[in-house]
Amino acid sequence: MKQHISKTTLSVRAGLESDEQFGAVIPPIHLSSTFAFKQFGVEQQYDYTRTANPTRDALAEAVTVLEGGYGATVTSSGMAAITLVTACLNSDDYVLIPHDCYGGTIRLFSRLEERGLLRVKFVDQRDLNLLHQAINQYKPKIVLVETPSNPLLRIVDIQAISKILKQSNTLLVVDNTFLTPIFQTPFALGADIVIHSTTKYINGHSDVVGGIVVAKTKTLHQTMQEWANILGLSGAPFDSYLTLRGLRTLQLRMQAHEKNALALAQVLSGHSSVEKVYYPGLTSHPTHAIAKKQQSGFGGILSFKIKFGLKEVEKFFKYLEYFSLAESLGGFESLVCHPYTMTHAALSPEQKEKAGISENLIRISVGIEQQEDIIGSILEALELKSVKANPILKVMK
Ligand SMILES: Cc1ncc(COP(=O)(O)O)c(C=O)c1O
Repeated sequence: MKQHISKTTLSVRAGLESDEQFGAVIPPIHLSSTFAFKQFGVEQQYDYTRTANPTRDALAEAVTVLEGGYGATVTSSGMAAITLVTACLNSDDYVLIPHDCYGGTIRLFSRLEERGLLRVKFVDQRDLNLLHQAINQYKPKIVLVETPSNPLLRIVDIQAISKILKQSNTLLVVDNTFLTPIFQTPFALGADIVIHSTTKYINGHSDVVGGIVVAKTKTLHQTMQEWANILGLSGAPFDSYLTLRGLRTLQLRMQAHEKNALALAQVLSGHSSVEKVYYPGLTSHPTHAIAKKQQSGFGGILSFKIKFGLKEVEKFFKYLEYFSLAESLGGFESLVCHPYTMTHAALSPEQKEKAGISENLIRISVGIEQQEDIIGSILEALELKSVKANPILKVMK
């Protein structure tokens, strides 16, 4: 019997020794935009890079295997991946998306609806009765799920949603950016399409903007490939090369992110200056049980509310030593973000209140630095007093 290969080995060894010309261990990068025809009038695998490219295919193949899909299409960003999925829709087709999903996704679907290209409804998907009602009412072509949500880490039950959709033609699309195939494999839970902003954990080094659409079936994959070419959404070879390089350490990084995030969440939970901690790995998290059932890890993102106003929040950021104040997430480095004025600034105060985004909410993308440094830095900043900066790290900033 063939030995089961772990995800670690798969991602480490993806495409190694595939170079037939020189026997390079690491797959070479193919930057060429065009490929010479070997014979007049005879079709070949590669002719033009928007259509297909060997370096991009190497990344697509690796992520396909990790997710357990049929095939993948590498795109130029996470938003390009979501845009590509809309190629399945006609102007009278409905999409149901989470009421609290990534702001860029909300903006994309709202603006496409304004132009009459599709119809969209926002649903709190944690309430399965509400979702069931919406599915019966709108008969959507797509239900898009994003779990955990950003920034409050709410979890929705992918398998329960897939069961509701069983007898329908609705496609279940899961944005797996926050957990990656290391901690969640949506195809095993009934998804038809899995998307990622590879900008985040899959690349993991905050130096590429990219995305990917993994399809469960050949037909869906062919549709995605065809439309990526028509719309020109395909990712660049250089970005694919870097992303594949990042993917090789995904398992190690995810484990380190989670270990640090859980330890930080536990410390913050007992802290006198902290009002509430949002991390699915805490047993106190309202949807901890679903997370435990459908995920094999809790991820590296957490949010918390401090017991102060905006002035003190500003001080907290000022005194926080080993964190960069930035909007992205999923890189090896620790980032801190103030959703109220940064990622969710476009929402009205009422929308923010409804979404639970208050002025004292802080989101952290916990990096893989030494755990004691991460926790120590947060605890010192919570004192709201200036600490003596580490001269080396300040210079490095
Ligand atoms: C969950 C999720 N999906 C999609 C995107 C969009 O990805 P990108 O910024 O790579 O276009 C983001 C970006 O933050 C995200 O957090």
